[in-house]
Amino acid sequence: MLVGRSAESARIDGLLNGVRGGTGGALMLLGEPGIGKSALLQYAGRQATGMRQLAIVGVAAEAALPYAGLSELFRPVLWGLEALPARQSRAIKLALGAGEDGATDALAVYAGVLALLAEVASREPLIIIVDDAHWLDIETVNALAFVGRRIEDESIGLLLGARSGESFEMDRVPQLRLGGVDQAAAAALVGRAGYDLAPDVVRALCDVVAGNPLALLELPGVLDADQRAGRRPLDDPLTVTASVERAFLTRIDRLDADGRQALLLAAASDSDDVETIRRAAPAAATGLEHAERIGLVRVQRGRIGFWHPLVRSAVYAAATDEERRAVSPRSRPGSTVTPTTLRTLITSWSRPSTLPCPKTPSACERFWKPSWSCRRPKMFSPGPGCATRPYGLDPAGASSSR
Ligand SMILES: Nc1ncnc2c1ncn2[C@@H]1O[C@H](COP(=O)(O)OP(=O)(O)OP(=O)(O)O)[C@@H](O)[C@H]1O
Ligand SMILES: [Mg+2]
Repeated sequence: MLVGRSAESARIDGLLNGVRGGTGGALMLLGEPGIGKSALLQYAGRQATGMRQLAIVGVAAEAALPYAGLSELFRPVLWGLEALPARQSRAIKLALGAGEDGATDALAVYAGVLALLAEVASREPLIIIVDDAHWLDIETVNALAFVGRRIEDESIGLLLGARSGESFEMDRVPQLRLGGVDQAAAAALVGRAGYDLAPDVVRALCDVVAGNPLALLELPGVLDADQRAGRRPLDDPLTVTASVERAFLTRIDRLDADGRQALLLAAASDSDDVETIRRAAPAAATGLEHAERIGLVRVQRGRIGFWHPLVRSAVYAAATDEERRAVSPRSRPGSTVTPTTLRTLITSWSRPSTLPCPKTPSACERFWKPSWSCRRPKMFSPGPGCATRPYGLDPAGASSSR
């Protein structure tokens, strides 16, 4: 059962009601791995009573096979081809590999797809649910986009889920970008997973993972009893969720050396200033652009923000020890963790009151000491509303301005 998401489920309910009443529409749910796209699509499937449902899931291994997605979608309704004009029926059969040889005519295929779906919908309202649309072959994506733009007068609904940051587009198909769930939903998720966490810890966890349901479900499982009770910080949210992190790792793998260095600098730095990163590594600007294009960071008004806190973790996980050492303050001449930096950290991080909080820079350094030698650095347990970042790199002496 879905927790939270009242606005999103209301939007889906509205679309389904419209379809029942003869006003079709399309909606694409976009969001990072684990954010709840599939959960919402499943909700839609449960709500779509009295309707015909056609559902498919994009498969990465078939992304390069033209019309592989459509052939799956149409399998239960191929009978409808009989009602189509011969040209469209032929075009579809050809596209699905079931016709005579010849070149496919994209417009005839798209028109045929729309006509076939309209034929199905003439018997009962139709909802098409497509999950992991970012893994569909491009021909199917284009055909569905064509449909999505032309169903307002049909009893047809098209609901899709796709990961943001993937090279996937559907021009002029309405989008709903999913953010994290709120604190109340987070508490419900954690409770539902059977974990008994102190309320402060749930709040801190929700902040750390920006309300990502998958992370909320998985992270408590790697906490020890003291952490669950709030007696010890959540010192390493990075052991979190192999799946969310792995998805980000795949994206990081697409970056070149400049991009990886830029991200590692940003992850290790306590500055979110692009200029500071640029000074530390002049080629980093191009790297950052690429990282932004593939949805790892957002750069706004000269400030870098990680798309998701877990991206930061994945960046560390993807780096070699040598790369991490290269951005470590201890190995960069002139870039140190200064008392000013530490003081800033001490005063700017609020923490759950049950957790110990060092009062001086040196105590802070001891307390939050990162371990650059291990595969992943220590992370911290920030309180509600805190940014999560390790103390560390102060490239190009930026801390002097703090
Ligand atoms: N609102 C919610 N209520 C209850 N459970 C949820 C909610 N949102 C997500 N979940 C659960 O969180 C986990 C991750 O959600 P889901 O699989 O829907 O993410 P996703 O966005 O589809 O991720 P991916 O891109 O990896 O496919 C699932 O176990 C799902 O059931
Ligand atoms: Mg999913």
